[in-house]
Amino acid sequence: MESREELFLQYKFAKQMLETEINILIEEFVFVHGYNPVEHIKSRIKSEASIIKKLEKKGYNYSLNNIISHIHDGVGIRVVVSFLSDVYDIVAVIRKSKNLIIVGQEDYIKHPKDTGYISYHLNVLVPVYLENRIDYVEAEIQIRTIAMDFWASLDHKIRYKFPNEIPADVKEKMYENSLIIKQLDNQMMHLNDIVNRYDKN
Ligand code: GTP
Ligand code: MG
Repeated sequence: MESREELFLQYKFAKQMLETEINILIEEFVFVHGYNPVEHIKSRIKSEASIIKKLEKKGYNYSLNNIISHIHDGVGIRVVVSFLSDVYDIVAVIRKSKNLIIVGQEDYIKHPKDTGYISYHLNVLVPVYLENRIDYVEAEIQIRTIAMDFWASLDHKIRYKFPNEIPADVKEKMYENSLIIKQLDNQMMHLNDIVNRYDKN
């Protein structure tokens, strides 16, 4: 890797590869199960400004080497599904991919972050086939329900409003709200089980 321009080009290719791979895996799942668990999918390349900010927060200056060593979500894709059980179905499907190499996983559903953040993360290497070599580019896959996505999205906005320190009462409320989200996801999943049983009769 010679330059940041080259890195961003790699990100662009990796994002395209990852989107295609995930879309195919999900479309096959829909074909096999006759059920689409996906609400929506969103992917992005981390902006230069966000990379600078994240490196700064981690105590590193903005250099090519530091990006490669410390930024693991230059490429990101988020799969938002309906029900809690769908999260694990999608994780299982992605795990079976012959193209993606899984290098990390974080189950923030079983072990939520202190903030209350709930999601399932997979860190993968995405192969990018170039003229005379294959580059493996890091990417982060976030899998979560719409309820988790709702919480994370508002949490993100609140964080933006308080760039330094989130007031303790706001923090506490957000944590409490995350417990409600968790409960809601469980209730909806059980309701869905009941609905599916009606379907069969
Ligand atoms: P990096 O991967 O280096 O960022 O550090 P990490 O492994 O500690 O981060 P993690 O993989 O846990 O989280 C990465 C991404 O998850 C972030 O960029 C956010 O998109 C999301 N995330 C993590 N924690 C929170 C949170 O408290 N609130 C919200 N809204 N999103 C979060
Ligand atoms: Mg991470």
